[in-house]
Amino acid sequence: MSVDQKPVWYITTPIYYVNGRPHIGSSLTTVCCDVLARWRRMQGRRTWFLTGTDEQATNVFEAAAKAGVPVQEFVDRLAAEFRSVWDRLHIRYDDFIRTTEPRHVQVVQEVFRRLRDGGHVYLDLYEGWYCVADETFFRDSDVGPDRLCPNAECRKPLQRVQEQNYFFRLSAFAEPLLRHIEENPGFLQPDFRRNEVVSFIQQGLRDMSITRANNGWGIPVPGEPDKVIYVWFDALINYLAATGWPRDMARYAELWPADVHVMAKDIFVRFHATLWPAMLLALGLPLPRTVYAHGWWVDAEGRKQGKRTGGLPHPVEFSEELADLSGAAPEIAVDALRYLLLREMVFHGDTEFEREAFLKRYNADLANDLGNLCNRTVTMLTRYFGGVVPQAARVEQEIAQAAAQSAREYEAALAEFRFNTALESAWRLVARMNRYIEEKAPWSLAKRGETEELAVALCTCLEALRVAATLAAPVMPVAAQRVWRQIGLETTADTARWADAHAWGLVPPGTRVPPPEPIFPRIEEKRMTDSALSGASQVSGEAAAPAVPAPAAPAQKPPPITIDDFMKVELRVANVTAAEPVPNADKLLKLTLDVAGEPRTVLAGIAQMYEPQELVGRQVVLVANLQPRKMRGIESQGMLLAADVDGQAILVQPETVVPSGSRVR
Ligand code: MSP
Repeated sequence: MSVDQKPVWYITTPIYYVNGRPHIGSSLTTVCCDVLARWRRMQGRRTWFLTGTDEQATNVFEAAAKAGVPVQEFVDRLAAEFRSVWDRLHIRYDDFIRTTEPRHVQVVQEVFRRLRDGGHVYLDLYEGWYCVADETFFRDSDVGPDRLCPNAECRKPLQRVQEQNYFFRLSAFAEPLLRHIEENPGFLQPDFRRNEVVSFIQQGLRDMSITRANNGWGIPVPGEPDKVIYVWFDALINYLAATGWPRDMARYAELWPADVHVMAKDIFVRFHATLWPAMLLALGLPLPRTVYAHGWWVDAEGRKQGKRTGGLPHPVEFSEELADLSGAAPEIAVDALRYLLLREMVFHGDTEFEREAFLKRYNADLANDLGNLCNRTVTMLTRYFGGVVPQAARVEQEIAQAAAQSAREYEAALAEFRFNTALESAWRLVARMNRYIEEKAPWSLAKRGETEELAVALCTCLEALRVAATLAAPVMPVAAQRVWRQIGLETTADTARWADAHAWGLVPPGTRVPPPEPIFPRIEEKRMTDSALSGASQVSGEAAAPAVPAPAAPAQKPPPITIDDFMKVELRVANVTAAEPVPNADKLLKLTLDVAGEPRTVLAGIAQMYEPQELVGRQVVLVANLQPRKMRGIESQGMLLAADVDGQAILVQPETVVPSGSRVR
């Protein structure tokens, strides 16, 4: 069977050392594999997604000793933690392999036996250095006088090792590897990392020690219990062991070769792009189709963040913080975190991990862009069509094409592991739709009674939302389902089909939508750190602008106000309960407002723009702590916010219906 006909699409994460808890780094790789797997499933491909834990390492043994816990109990506990974190993060893996499981141990020993029988390994004296943290051997020539690990990210003291070890004849595979790399340009990705591998191999491959003296932890060499198999040699085999090879060759044939191994760049060149393919060549097995390495989360100085530095948060704790800050449901906050990980990381390179950037992006992309689009659409559909999808007289071609374009760009980017670019393409559609709403101004269409155009506008919004949710679904399966539900569809993450991202007109007329419910509530600015504050607070500033008269001819720009100055203005959302003209005042309307249950009377100069009856039931924004002022014998207890458009006042109102009395800032 040719590789192209392989029935199952098989993707793997690295197996993580159980010497510490999962963090945003391990979550990045796991989420990105989950997204690719979900995407393939939506395309109708049978998919197998493998993840797991690397448990036979000396660093794991040492971590258990440090924690004062028996090592087996320690690895059981951490493997369970990894599984539960992946479950919480909506990771839909098909298999979770632990290297302490018999199914793995047996295959590692079988591989060793075959290589020994085939003359690919030999016994020799190993004399050199070993870094436990990196689980890597170093020659004398690699190590400086400080005897610290040469890996700049590690720099831990090395152990001097003198052992009778087995060596793998890696040097014999330089030529076949280079040939394979040249003949299969998709094998090592991205391209610039392939070049690193090529020059690493061209510098000369040395045979590699693949056993260690048995110090009580590790997989014993068959027939030689004083030796254990080197943890990298053992760990790489997990990808093969999980297929059932060599016991279940039918299953193996469905899965192997793996379609994609994903990992970070630190374990790419030496291990996944050189040692592993060489081991497979020695076994006479096909090589994985693609090995992809992404960059790291780094600190401000460009240093890798992770267990060693402790700089990366625990993913579940971070999502809980996001839920707490925003008020989003916990499972929505998890989806938001998945989105933020993939949207913030520049995949081919390194990215500084910045908590504030995540929070800002949450507000910008999720609360404002997608959340608002959904809310506005459903709110208007409820208001103008009683929540029932109307029949649209025509298709808005430009928008339908923009949606198809987004879907195409998304696919092209995802095929190259450019997750951030893919999401950017999807969000271009969302941004286009928010602009479309402004352009069409459905509220004006409603006011002018142009029902047919209004139906076209809202159906266009519904369709674009449906497509946007489909594009978002691999990344945010729960939130996508929530969007579909909001627009009256019963699609779930399991029933969603990728082809629907390219279709138009799938929300049938007559569909009833439920009342609008915010999916991604906004994080209030004051709950963000100072640096996150600046961008968001402008929104309130712009809204308030028309209420503040500009000085006639300012000699100098007035000094900026402080946030405390701004906070003195008490802005509240109010419901208009009654409205009537003011006798002998052709610009004024007298409004009765409800502010959290309290009535207020306000005179507003909007009579030329609004009919009294169309204001009743609307929400407005009130300057609630303005000194009362008497006009035409009536006391006005506040002022409404309105945009000043050539002297005409256009009322400011919340994007979606909110409780009366809500503070605006
Ligand atoms: N056990 C080995 C892998 C064996 S695979 C046969 C190992 N484990 S690890 O726990 O250190 O996890 C490494 C992986 O976690 C990286 O390859 C990467 O996928 C992910 N990351 C850990 N820290 C990370 C960052 N700071 N940034 C990005 N990814 C990170 O190596």
